[in-house]
Amino acid sequence: MSPAREDGRQDAGAGYVRGRLPEPVSIIGATGALGFGLAVRLARAGGEVVIGSRDIDRARQAAARAREAVPGATCSAAANAEAASATELLLLTVPFRNQAETLHNLRDVLTAGQLLIDATVPLAAAAGGKATRMLGVWQGSAAQQAQELVPEGVTVLSALHTISAATLRDLDGVLDEDVLLAGDRRADKVRVATLLEGIEGLRCVDCGRLEMARVTEQLTALMISINARYKTHAGVRITGLPDELWPSTAGSR
Ligand SMILES: NC(=O)c1ccc[n+]([C@@H]2O[C@H](COP(=O)([O-])OP(=O)(O)OC[C@H]3O[C@@H](n4cnc5c(N)ncnc54)[C@H](OP(=O)(O)O)[C@@H]3O)[C@@H](O)[C@H]2O)c1
Repeated sequence: MSPAREDGRQDAGAGYVRGRLPEPVSIIGATGALGFGLAVRLARAGGEVVIGSRDIDRARQAAARAREAVPGATCSAAANAEAASATELLLLTVPFRNQAETLHNLRDVLTAGQLLIDATVPLAAAAGGKATRMLGVWQGSAAQQAQELVPEGVTVLSALHTISAATLRDLDGVLDEDVLLAGDRRADKVRVATLLEGIEGLRCVDCGRLEMARVTEQLTALMISINARYKTHAGVRITGLPDELWPSTAGSR
């Protein structure tokens, strides 16, 4: 674990180290399907997780469930505002229809330097449409909308759209799939890959700049359609890549 700073947050580790969970993460929306699945997987990998909710009692219940699922887990509970200011690294796992409202409510507590991993998918279901269709987002993607909504200096990175909450939640299930990352700075992607690859069976792939989220978010609709046909929780695997996806290139952005 990196040394604690005066403000209580942890500094990120410098380089990429596979299988190491370098810093604590707060999950906004961790009482839900994806957030909770990530919480238990990260906790099982030895990570320190803050479970955020609009309702502190719901957060406490979810944290208790996580500790039950993963004995010894370092899972604490907090209201969203407290969770959002507790760690440098944040995960946002709320429905698209609540993304803007959630970020608006957190505007005063988010501070420059934080990195927000956005998993939001603008599925048409958010507006009463089909889960296999997407909504148009003026900014191009939910992640780009998030980047516009957070205070200056907070960076948004897009990830996790093809990972099934059900697969994460089933701790007996084996994960063997890729996480597609889109973000504007390589250093941020290295940091997030270091965190997420601490979860056994996940490999992170750099998909390019944040604007690529308009493509990766759409894959959720594809996965839902495939899953409906095969009655499963499929994942994606990009082929033809080199063995080392995160070579050390100190100072690159
Ligand atoms: N489920 C998946 O397999 C999956 C996979 C990839 C991506 N995603 C994306 O990840 C995001 C979360 O998905 P999910 O399935 O975890 O969603 P979910 O279970 O429906 O909701 C997640 C959490 O969002 C919070 N929330 C915040 N504002 C809300 C409001 N006004 N009304 C209702 N809930 C609100 C709730 O937490 P509190 O009530 O405790 O605040 C809720 O537990 C979505 O954008 C989804 O498209 C999901």
